[in-house]
Amino acid sequence: MNFSNKVVFVAGGTTGINFGIAESFVAAGARVAVLSRKQDKVDAAVAALKAKGGEAIGFAADVRSIEALDAAMAATAAQWGAIDVLVSGAAGNFVSEADQLSANGFKTVIDIDLLGCFNVMKAAFPHLKKPGASIVNISAPQSWLPTPMQIHVCAAKAGIDQVTRTAAMEWGPKGIRVNAIAPGPIADTEGMKRLAPTPAAAQAWTDSVPLRRWGTRQEIARVTQWLCSDDASYVSGVILPVDGGWSLGGSSAMSSALLAS
Ligand code: HXC
Repeated sequence: MNFSNKVVFVAGGTTGINFGIAESFVAAGARVAVLSRKQDKVDAAVAALKAKGGEAIGFAADVRSIEALDAAMAATAAQWGAIDVLVSGAAGNFVSEADQLSANGFKTVIDIDLLGCFNVMKAAFPHLKKPGASIVNISAPQSWLPTPMQIHVCAAKAGIDQVTRTAAMEWGPKGIRVNAIAPGPIADTEGMKRLAPTPAAAQAWTDSVPLRRWGTRQEIARVTQWLCSDDASYVSGVILPVDGGWSLGGSSAMSSALLAS
């Protein structure tokens, strides 16, 4: 894929899946801005992206703050021009049964994942290339598959899917495509450290995927790039599973395992 001189903003882009996406866009020639809460993680990510020969900038900000996002998007556009690609992937997760989860625990994940996704899109909108920009939100199979211990994440990701579809309808006439991907179990991510904390749990995840393996950050990045490329120029409003087929039925096995844990 060639994204030479394209401006890419990845919210949550300093670790895991989102950092993999940022790396892949740098490798494809893009100028990449990343944003996450902690300055040290931002500094490390920007240094790593520059070490790969890319142009990169970073912002330490919380996606729950629209003011901080407004400033980051404006600064990116001031430096490089209109934003071609926006990836919204900041997320929080932990496992908890619903009756053990505090109202603030539920609200915290809704605020980071769902409100954060809206805030990222809202702050970016004035600076998106019109026509031509492409947005990819990071959802999850939990958005349509009810999953024990994940009531907060299920609710937040379902909201992200509807934000994605609604924005695709409203912003399509301006030439902006809005899609989401729903990754299954992906190696080297904070999310899977939390969802598969033991070797036995990790094996149960592997066994529940039709392809019998976890995905890689590169596999998520490649699909993200495809969605943002001209090859996907007539694709908008879709929630695309990238999960080795896990959402076809593996969630049932994992639901049983989670309930038994
Ligand atoms: C129950 C918990 C909890 C836990 C926090 N809370 N951890 N409740 N079990 N393990 C509750 C707290 O008690 C508190 O409620 C409320 O949540 C807010 O907690 P804080 O720590 O103050 O929040 P904050 O500092 O904003 O941290 C947010 C966080 C944290 C989500 C709780 O884990 C975080 O920062 N995570 C970021 C990294 C991350 O999670 N990445 C994974 C994303 S993967 P009270 O009532 O006590 O005040 C992902 C993919 C999902 O999303 C799909 C995979 C297939």
